[in-house]
Order: sequence, then structure tokens, then C-alpha cells
Amino acid sequence: MNNKDNSTQVSKDGFEHYMLKEIYEQPKVVKNILENREEIYNSNFSKEELEQIDKIYIVACGTALHAGQNGKFALEMLTGIPVITDIASEFRYNDVFIDEKTLLIVISQSGETADTIGALEKGIRYKAKTLSITNVMDSTIANMTEKSMFCNAGPEISIASTKAYMAQLTVLFLLSLDIALKLKAIDTQTFDKVLASLKEIPEKINIVLKDLTAYKEIAKELKEVNSMFYIGRGSDFITAKEGSLKLKETSYIHSEPFPAGELKHGTMAIIDETSKIIAVAAQSGLDAKTTVNVSELKDKGAKVFSIGTEENEVLKNNSDITILIPKTIDLLVPMLAVVPEQLIAYYTALAKGNDVDHPRNLTKSVISE
Ligand code: AGP
Repeated sequence: MNNKDNSTQVSKDGFEHYMLKEIYEQPKVVKNILENREEIYNSNFSKEELEQIDKIYIVACGTALHAGQNGKFALEMLTGIPVITDIASEFRYNDVFIDEKTLLIVISQSGETADTIGALEKGIRYKAKTLSITNVMDSTIANMTEKSMFCNAGPEISIASTKAYMAQLTVLFLLSLDIALKLKAIDTQTFDKVLASLKEIPEKINIVLKDLTAYKEIAKELKEVNSMFYIGRGSDFITAKEGSLKLKETSYIHSEPFPAGELKHGTMAIIDETSKIIAVAAQSGLDAKTTVNVSELKDKGAKVFSIGTEENEVLKNNSDITILIPKTIDLLVPMLAVVPEQLIAYYTALAKGNDVDHPRNLTKSVISE
């Protein structure tokens, strides 16, 4: 399906904006990919081809890069193959460590992003095996790679990407499982366990979408600020980066994401009673550490809005507003933790009276360097 410029043909289905409609489409998008998961496995390299790989590069821009950075966690954990992620516009001009034993994965909603195409051309020149994940089947990037995986999220009209990100995460997790099983890095029981957790995600996203009160309350607070922070650790930090980007794009508020442990190495000096922070503390292995950082921020008088799981009472007690997402395995937490951030960005932009679907100075597909 080509979604290069079809905004006028796509209905908002009763939603006020495409962004909100696309946020609400996410459970269906994940379900659809899971139901057709054989297509993903069949589009992958064979066991014999994968056995030749000694490293993976994931290259993309913006939100697609954040999906790739989450994919790195999944690929490394499940396959044991080292993964390097890079921004396409940097990869093009950086020294890279690529040869015929490298798998280069490029991710692009549009399949037309100039820097990602440039990066892919470089990877092909260096003889990497190439695989693309796009939301447009007949796109330049999909046509350039040896293997191409289709997100099938339907046209994404809002410039701020939401459902395509969710689709990219789903495809990356399935791809990681498939590589791991083919290489016997995991057994079928682990494969089935992760897949079963993935199948629960659509219903869990629906739970996050049910009560919008907290997102609207946070938006009311954020619309008054000029600058703010997002923090997290591990994949919660990647989710923080995605939330920060979404807020910047739609609300024009300056926002910086930090790995929570880095705060003390400089940024803490800025924090005072005017500071506002969104803390992502949703992974069972790391949330306790981020929770300590949340208490430190509170001590300095900052307002903290947290995204965590029901089990974290300490986080609840130290945050001004806590959004509780359902529990899942740590690997899949990014699929749930990003949804409140998307809604906070949406309602903040709305509260500021911005053009939610068409933020100033941005285009859906960046076709120049
Ligand atoms: C996401 O909200 C942005 N609009 C932007 O970062 C986007 O993800 C980036 O430009 C990459 O686009 P692509 O996925 O079409 O390559």
C-alpha cells in the first residue's frame, strides 16, 4: 500500500485527529502482524545464511531508530549476536565495521528517507546482507534490500509516528525470535513463551488506552513549560527518547531525554522546583534504580510524572502523577510504556492549540539530506 500522500483519502473514523486515531489503531496493528507472522519468518534469511553473520547493524532515523534501538535489546538477548545501532545521517559518513558477515537492518516507515537510503547504499557497497522493515511495500528502501519485511500498519498520516513505531517493534521482536530459533540460540519453549506474551500485548494496550484522565492532567501541567526532561534506564531510556521526540514534535516544548544514572553527572544542577520530568520506570530489573532517581528529583523540588507497573508502590509514593501500565515481560515493556507518552504528547499539543497532525517545519517523509 502506498501512503506517500493519501491523507485526503483516509478517514479519521470519527477521531478529531489522525494522531489519536493512529494511537488507537495500535492494538489492531500488533494483532494483524502476529496473525500474519509467517510472512515475517518467510521474509527472513535462511538458517544457512544467518549462520554466516557475526554482527548486526541497525540504521534508521528518528522514531524508526528508536524502534531499532529496542530491537537491539531483543536481538542481543535472544540471539547473542552483537548489534550496533546508528543514526543513518551519521552512519553515512562514519567509519563502519561492515563486510559480508554483517546483517544490515534498515527501518523506515515511509521507505523513502534520504539518509536511510544513503546508509543502505553504503551497506550494499560494503557487501552486507540487507534487510528492510518498512510500512510501504513498494518503497525505494524495500526494493533495494535483499529481504524486506512489511509492517502493514496501514497509511500513517500524522507526522508524529505512533502506530508505525508499534508495528516496527512487533516486526523486530518476531524477527529476533526467528533468528534465535533458526540459530538454536533459544529453544522452542522460550520462543513460545515470548510469543505468548506478545499475543497479550493488544489487550494490554487497550487497557492503557481506556482512561485518559492522567494524560490530560499531565498535558495541562506541561503546556505551561518551555523545557523538560525524560529519564529511564535500558529500554526504558529508549522509551524516554521516543516520548521526548513525540512531545517536541507536537507541542514544540524543548525536551531532553537522559539515562537516569547520568543525571548526577551534570544535569542535576539544572533541577529545581520549576523542573518537570517524565520518568519511565517500567522494567522489573531496572525500575528500582530509576525510582531512587525519582526520589532525588523530588528532593530538589521537581514535579515528576512516572510511568511504571502496578507493583512499584515506592514510585507511586514519590511521583506527582503515576501512570500504571500492565505487567509484561521486560523485553516487551516498550510496547506498553510508549502509549502513555504518545497520549501525553497528543493532549499537550491539543492544549496548546497546535496543528497536531501537521507540526510546523516538519514533513512526513524526509527526502533530502
Ligand atoms: C517520528 O514521529 C518522526 N516524524 C520522524 O522522526 C520519523 O520517524 C523519521 O523521519 C524517519 O522516517 P521514516 O521512518 O519514514 O524513515
